[in-house]
Amino acid sequence: MNELIKMIKYFNNKKIVIGVTGSIAAYKAVDLASQLKQRGAIVDVIMTETATKFIHPLSFQAITHREVVVDLYDPSSEIGMDHLVLANQADLFIVAPATANIVSKAALGIADNALISTLLATEAPVLVCPAMDGDMFQKPQIKNNIEKLIEFGFHVLGPNEGRLASGNIGKGRLVEIYEIQNMCRYIFGIKGDYRGKNIVVTSGGTKEHIDPVRYISNNSSGKMGNFIAEAARDRGAFVQLVSSSLSAKSSAGIELKKVKTADQMLRAVELASTSADVLIMAAAVSDWKPIDVSEQKIKKDGQKEISIQMTQSSDILSTVLKPGLFKVGFAAETEDIINNASEKLNSKGLDLIVANDISDDSIGFESDYNSVTIIDKNGIAKQVDRSLKYEVANLILDEVLNLYV
Ligand code: CTP
Repeated sequence: MNELIKMIKYFNNKKIVIGVTGSIAAYKAVDLASQLKQRGAIVDVIMTETATKFIHPLSFQAITHREVVVDLYDPSSEIGMDHLVLANQADLFIVAPATANIVSKAALGIADNALISTLLATEAPVLVCPAMDGDMFQKPQIKNNIEKLIEFGFHVLGPNEGRLASGNIGKGRLVEIYEIQNMCRYIFGIKGDYRGKNIVVTSGGTKEHIDPVRYISNNSSGKMGNFIAEAARDRGAFVQLVSSSLSAKSSAGIELKKVKTADQMLRAVELASTSADVLIMAAAVSDWKPIDVSEQKIKKDGQKEISIQMTQSSDILSTVLKPGLFKVGFAAETEDIINNASEKLNSKGLDLIVANDISDDSIGFESDYNSVTIIDKNGIAKQVDRSLKYEVANLILDEVLNLYV
């Protein structure tokens, strides 16, 4: 991921409290604090005494530029005594790593340190990321307590399977920092303007095989569609991402359906659309597919030329005809952009089309930027000058919401 994308302020001015407990994974919470801060959050850290044996509070203080709370009764601390300050201010409370001890105390309401007292006092959403020995995690007491936390409305993420401090492989590793960030974005999205909406997004260029090693494809990194999926999730939508892009990932609120060919994409989109409100086709779908796919690798055998007979693949946007489905297409054009795009809007029965000029090297395929014209049935709805694809995604979603009834 490049530096620019890292700087998107997903958590602008959100007040996030990170509770750190005594696990070997405590050092990872420094990275979490840093990542959240870089993305605009105001981060406070509360540590248990045991956590301070693994990592010094100064590490967090240096990153957050804010006082770290350890002791509820520290007379020298400005906020330690009044744990309600952080509890009241928080927009989100994350416990990462969360040991078996803190999980159980939170489930039973045992408030015997600054972290758990603040946690139990907050009205903010709480995300708990357990990290512990794999055998411990399997114990019914711990499983029950995690179930209880979920019943109480806490979000629980992980643990992951992998190498543990003991050297064993098991389920007990703290989830990755990017997974925690995705979960935070999902949690903040719950109250967003897309809450309750089910959106199907496609991304990437489909691949049509000629033989087992060769294929014909369209140039597309999938970034635009992937960003639309993320932006819709960040605003509260449940997203089904149908993608042939290697960089597409499942994450909190985004269900990935991997496909390769145009036919597979058609089937996946048809299935996903049965429960959807909106379909956004950002994928570069192959218009043509070979009539015969050779089962064996095609050999040169002294030939100087070969011909491949192709047939047209179905147009996905025109084929998916679910009543009430709001359909958005993309038109990547090299000339007469607005007219070509408007023609596609009508012929494919779309509500909106997003046109872009792919002859402009400063935007498009591999770029993190795009510049688009959003066209609806009445003509140009919005002109978006060169902006980060995540921002373009949000502007497209704004237009969808303006028109969606
Ligand atoms: N699309 C589709 N099914 C296809 C081909 C394209 O649903 N088999 C969708 C694309 O995802 C995009 C829109 O239709 O949202 C326009 O795609 P584009 O390739 O620009 O247009 P085509 O219809 O393929 O027309 P042409 O290639 O002739 O410009």
